[in-house]
Amino acid sequence: MCGIVGYIGGGNAAEIILGGLKRLEYRGYDSAGAAFLSDGKIQLVKKQGRVEKLAPLLKDVRSFAGIGHTRWATHGEPSDANAHPHLSDGIAVVHNGIIENYAELKAELISGGAKFLSDTDSEVVVHLLAKNYGGNLIEAMRKTVKALEGSYALMAICESENKIVVARYKSPLIVGYGDGGNFVASDEPALAGLCRDISILEDGDVAEITADGVNIFDKYFKPVTRAKEPNLAVSASLGLEGCPHYMLKELRETPLSVEATVRAFDGVKDNLSTVLKGVKRVILTGCGTAYHAALIGKRYVECFARIPAECETAGEFRYKNPVIDNSTAVFAVSQSGETADTVEAARLALSMGAKVIAVTNSHRSELTRLATAVVPVAAGPEICVAATKSYTGQLAALYLSAATLAGDEIYSECAKKIKAIPAVISETLENLDMRSLAHICASSSGVYFLGRDLDYAVALEGSLKLKEISYVAGEGYPSGELKHGTLALIDVNTTSVVLITDKSLASKSENAVEQVLSRGGKVAVITNVEEAEERFAGKLPLISLPACDKFLSPLLSGVAVQMLAYKAAAVLGREIDKPRNLAKSVTVE
Ligand code: M6R
Repeated sequence: MCGIVGYIGGGNAAEIILGGLKRLEYRGYDSAGAAFLSDGKIQLVKKQGRVEKLAPLLKDVRSFAGIGHTRWATHGEPSDANAHPHLSDGIAVVHNGIIENYAELKAELISGGAKFLSDTDSEVVVHLLAKNYGGNLIEAMRKTVKALEGSYALMAICESENKIVVARYKSPLIVGYGDGGNFVASDEPALAGLCRDISILEDGDVAEITADGVNIFDKYFKPVTRAKEPNLAVSASLGLEGCPHYMLKELRETPLSVEATVRAFDGVKDNLSTVLKGVKRVILTGCGTAYHAALIGKRYVECFARIPAECETAGEFRYKNPVIDNSTAVFAVSQSGETADTVEAARLALSMGAKVIAVTNSHRSELTRLATAVVPVAAGPEICVAATKSYTGQLAALYLSAATLAGDEIYSECAKKIKAIPAVISETLENLDMRSLAHICASSSGVYFLGRDLDYAVALEGSLKLKEISYVAGEGYPSGELKHGTLALIDVNTTSVVLITDKSLASKSENAVEQVLSRGGKVAVITNVEEAEERFAGKLPLISLPACDKFLSPLLSGVAVQMLAYKAAAVLGREIDKPRNLAKSVTVE
């Protein structure tokens, strides 16, 4: 799962590819590379590490056409050899996706004499292209993709043709039309500021891009045109505004994210009501943090609308033959709108007759294109790999969506309550002091986040965030389940962070606090329940949050656990915005 970009035309290809790759780094950053055409020769540059490492190597490259790649390793460790492009017999290829039948193809190619230089699945593509090449690159691509199983966005150049040939299946690919040159990329940000119009290629499309034009062919190799749309990608550089990390900046933008999401909801409410008419069952799905937001959305739907709701990670949902009909609404929650599992789950739900509601921060994405309706999250660009303000925005969007399902009376009550929340989140952020708890967590052998009901869903988010950016092991756990096994892990080196934001369940979670203390474990409490504050004040680390409606408390406790993770990662000196092994947008299975 990677970012790819290509250019051909009168401009400086090296500069354009480097700029595009920098804007695509959120898709992977363990290695980067590019291949350029000049004087009928391919020049290859690739390096393990960040895109920045390519800059000095590209200084002297003079070329009119190139293809570039920033990698998130799936097959083969991050290394110079496994970095793309891959080269064979005067053809270079970059790939985003996974070639699932690569092992069989590789064995066949090796027995035919091909010499492999990497451990990647992608390298089979360049050897297949070389084998299929008879003087026409697009024809070779057409033959090659017939042999591939899995997902791919491919770009290829070859020494004897002045063009870029591309193909897509289940991985996004966008063509950009410029003045004096044309572009192709996996995502719009790569094209920011470069061209006025773009076309989104469809599954099965193969295309050739020259300096003068773009020819697209569909899966039957019939010439097609794909609609031109304005290029909305913004090239403005997003500064840190005095913050040491994007994560902190973005956490501080949480009140704005919620406020803007609530405002944006006004514009879609009527359409959403219409789409949801007659819905008898709701399924919510997503991955990672978006799944954690979906878990809370499920409780909103059940509690406000009294409609049966289920929540499943998208990766599970797509393979479980879900029970769905045309009275089912599936809320697909995704910051990027491009997460492969979530997009495929949505596609499956649609094919089974469900209505799909995309809850996303990316208003032009694979998910919005296929959805029946869109509920925008208006968090603005989120650069840090760890999701923060988009999560809270998703909670706001799901809260209002569930209230819409519940009818006018509940909706107007909820709309009033949530309008007051941005100010309460600001107050939370101003008063949060996580420094000492962050030190405790940073030096723990494991951190357990515990809670019941909505607090449990937030506990999952706290534990994911801590693991993701600080690399401290831990788990989110329902506090009632602790005594059924996990308690065995508790010792003096562990810390348990207990969330208590629902007065009616406070005494239950307080039991968990006592159970951990009795085993010598360290405990901290995050709460806005007065009784819990009184009980634990002065006895253990206590993080007090402003009092708040129980359904909206996750918007405060969510910020609190995210901030705790941030501070713990800072204590440990981690590379917070780009944690190891991860990427912002996960477009492979
Ligand atoms: O773009 P999406 O919301 O679909 O991404 C889903 C997950 O990959 C994402 O939330 C991931 O878990 C975050 N890095 C967590 O902070």
